[in-house]
Amino acid sequence: MPTIYIDGTAYEVEEGKNLLEACLNLGLDLPYFCWHPSMGSIGSCRQCAMVQYQNEEDTRGRIIMGCMTPVTEGARLSLEGETASEFREPVIESLMLNHPHDCPVCAEGGECHLQDMTVMVGHRDRNYRGKKNTHRNQYLGPLINHEMNRCISCYRCVRFYQDYAGGTDLAALASHDHVYFGRHQDGVLQSEFAGNLVEVCPTGVFTDKPLLNDYSRKWDLQSAPSVCVGCAVGCNTSPGERYGRLKRIQNRYNQQVNGYFLCDRGRFGADFVNSESRLNFTGVRQDDGSYQAIKADVALSLVAGLCQQGTVAGIGSPRASVEANYLLRRFVGNKHFSTGMGDVESALVQQVVDTLSTTRATSPSIDQIESADAVLILGEDVSNTAPRLALALREAARNKAREMAAEMRLEPWMDAAIKNLAQDQCSPVFIAGVHESRLNDISESSVTLAPDDIARLGFAIAEEIAGRRASDSVENLNADLSALASTIASVLKAAKNPLIVSGTSLLNVAVVESATAIAEALSTGEQSALLSLTVPECNSLGVVMLAGGDGLSREEGMAFKDLIESASQGNIDTLVILENDLYRRAPSEQIDQLLENVKQLVVLDSLDNATLSKSQIALPVATFAESEGTLVSSEGRAQRYYPVFVAEDDRLASWQWLSELGQVLGLSGFDQLEHFDQVEQACAEEIPALSGITAAAPEHQFRNRGLKIPRQPNRYSGRTAMRADVSVHEPKQPVDEESPLSFSMEGLSIGQPSSLMSYSWSPGWNSNQSIQKFQDEAGGEIKGGSAGVRLITPGHGVETHTNSVPDAFQPSSTKLLLVPVYRVFGSDELSAKAPAIAELAGEPQLILCPEDASNFQVVDGDGIAITAAGSTADTNTLDTSTVTLEVVIDSSMVKGCIGYTVGMWGTESLVAGSVVTLEKAIGWQRHQPQLIATDNPNAPNLQRQHVQIGVSHV
Ligand code: SF4
Ligand code: SF4
Ligand code: FES
Repeated sequence: MPTIYIDGTAYEVEEGKNLLEACLNLGLDLPYFCWHPSMGSIGSCRQCAMVQYQNEEDTRGRIIMGCMTPVTEGARLSLEGETASEFREPVIESLMLNHPHDCPVCAEGGECHLQDMTVMVGHRDRNYRGKKNTHRNQYLGPLINHEMNRCISCYRCVRFYQDYAGGTDLAALASHDHVYFGRHQDGVLQSEFAGNLVEVCPTGVFTDKPLLNDYSRKWDLQSAPSVCVGCAVGCNTSPGERYGRLKRIQNRYNQQVNGYFLCDRGRFGADFVNSESRLNFTGVRQDDGSYQAIKADVALSLVAGLCQQGTVAGIGSPRASVEANYLLRRFVGNKHFSTGMGDVESALVQQVVDTLSTTRATSPSIDQIESADAVLILGEDVSNTAPRLALALREAARNKAREMAAEMRLEPWMDAAIKNLAQDQCSPVFIAGVHESRLNDISESSVTLAPDDIARLGFAIAEEIAGRRASDSVENLNADLSALASTIASVLKAAKNPLIVSGTSLLNVAVVESATAIAEALSTGEQSALLSLTVPECNSLGVVMLAGGDGLSREEGMAFKDLIESASQGNIDTLVILENDLYRRAPSEQIDQLLENVKQLVVLDSLDNATLSKSQIALPVATFAESEGTLVSSEGRAQRYYPVFVAEDDRLASWQWLSELGQVLGLSGFDQLEHFDQVEQACAEEIPALSGITAAAPEHQFRNRGLKIPRQPNRYSGRTAMRADVSVHEPKQPVDEESPLSFSMEGLSIGQPSSLMSYSWSPGWNSNQSIQKFQDEAGGEIKGGSAGVRLITPGHGVETHTNSVPDAFQPSSTKLLLVPVYRVFGSDELSAKAPAIAELAGEPQLILCPEDASNFQVVDGDGIAITAAGSTADTNTLDTSTVTLEVVIDSSMVKGCIGYTVGMWGTESLVAGSVVTLEKAIGWQRHQPQLIATDNPNAPNLQRQHVQIGVSHV
């Protein structure tokens, strides 16, 4: 380790770092703007100036930029010396020549890196008397607000947006002091990672628009450690609340999972918590279909009474916590518990759990994914199903550039030099999907194939890697695919750290099997290839591990079709459904039949939905922001989330409803399941596969040097006045008996485990850059380790069978195969209820290739009606009712397949893998979108409309 001298003090620092990183790692405050731990250095802002001396005799030294200078043995430097600070102070002044002095009204105020740095360098007086430049701001969509006058030209935004996230519609425009960071014209930012600009920009140019529209000062927000429920990646978040409203989501740094970045579904989709569709009372259904509000204890007695009258079955949920699912399973018994997923999906997720528990390949963290040097994406449109994973794949593609840099002895943080060197060269990324991927720009080769053909390609690659001839196992493999398989196999085999990405979204078992076969073939000797299998929802893995018992044996619980069968035979008297809209899981006819055949239906949910509106008793539950729980991500990582604020009205966490219900009924052991820790402990003891969940976070008795950990920052203001319209007496702060966190600013927020970090703040560092004070090193792990615990470790190998290779897909001129197409905005149930996300979701569509479109004589914008023409499996039966939707022609769609947008109205009854016929809908009119009022000057002035809540208060 080199020794360097800063202002006369000797420090040992890590080799390969630059001086800015070294200073920050030593805890020294060296100001900076353009450097970012994930994006490296470009030396554009000139803020990190230090003085470097040639030797002990040199008293003048020379100015160098800390972020551009590597540490060298014996380097003599000054950070505090007059020359250095005299340089830094006017740099800020020059950066701020055109910056408005509007901190008191700026949305970034109090959490602004520019404010912090200005104070840090001591800049106070403005000498420039000229006129400031004034820029016109742009409309950038419902997520991001633009205030260009605040720009200090650090270039971080375009470096993130273009270079890191692959966006093409935001750029540095014009020149000199007129340089402008925006789009070529007003319009919605196209990247699904645009929200990160809010955190990347060191000042208030790009700010969170939904927060701005319902603004609270950032130091007035109460936060808790949380986990995104938008998909199964499990990004760590820090939601902020004031006045009982969730105001924003900020990234919570977890080096292993999400680093510094979130996707926009996660950042802005959590606004469903404030939705007017929230169920806010306990209701019992009346004869006229309306609901009468009743007290919670009355509801509990009523439900208990129903449960004593016969057989009770329970349907769990992949979007509810492990603990809530566990209590429901325990409440109804394993034999009467269903995971709440459709049978195909449930079996696929079970297959993922089995595979990850037995394969020699490693289920990688996002951090490990970023280290891959060759990637194959097999049948998974990760940009739409697991967006943060897609961002990690872009980082993996840059490993080629890093490799070239290492050969040229360039340090990995020399961003501009490395880009110049590598130009467009990427590590090899191969993609096989049913339509074009947004990652195509980094791919060496991409093909679109029908799901079975994707699996065939996968098996062919596995055979080639194993040294066998692909055509021996994969019959009728055409020459093009055979050559592609051979190329991909040789690239993956030659890689040091190959990664296979696949998942369940095509609902095709063979695709997952073929991905596993490749990873297994690559995992030989010491090498464990990386195998990332995505699953649909935030706790899909957790609920299947719960139902599967030890995670290896098949579940004893009920398959969905058995549940329907059992109900039809009159064997289910009361059905309890946990946070699950069944109409999104199976054709509506099946669900109607199920619900009609049970005598009583009890539904616990947070938002109004079709299933809830069929319930006899509706129990309102707290969302992730108002409750605690554990979620298991697709990596197999158990992570804990905590309530950010106390749930209002009758809302309780699902686990609390079920715990109280068990106690009212006097069920065995439920008197010991009153508290969250008890439930978690019981679950860990009973379910071997989940035994590790207790290590995900400390127990509720944990104290940080004797104190609780505050949710409110120490600058939190107005606590006494917040509810002065109700009473001038400050109410007692709520007491949290379930966790080590407090609902107040009292306590200690330094040195706690990363799973208990509500926010980060350090004296002089009020912005999100303060996180470096809590890391082992800049961009490294949080001191004490990353949050969460991995439940799945590589096994001894999994048997893969080439006899499961499907036949080649044969396109037909009269029938088409339904394939799912996902949208980052709109396909996910919860985030779609956030107004800003709903505005971007668009309309559901059917997607055809030009040849099929011409065959069926339809053009873009036509309506087509699709009807079932047989199915590939018994459970894959299409609802008999015809579905009519708008046609979109996409040249990348596979011939013989028709894509449908998943999870949007009208497409619920469509089942992937079904075979359908088409008919042009004569006189069809496009559905009038229920747009949310927008500030887009070009948008029609539509009134804010909400889906009618199915439960009305009587
Ligand atoms: S908009 Fe923000 S991030 Fe972009 S150059 Fe200006 S100050 Fe930097
Ligand atoms: S990638 Fe998934 S978990 Fe991460 S922020 Fe986006 S939706 Fe949330
Ligand atoms: S941080 Fe070093 S020049 Fe900008």
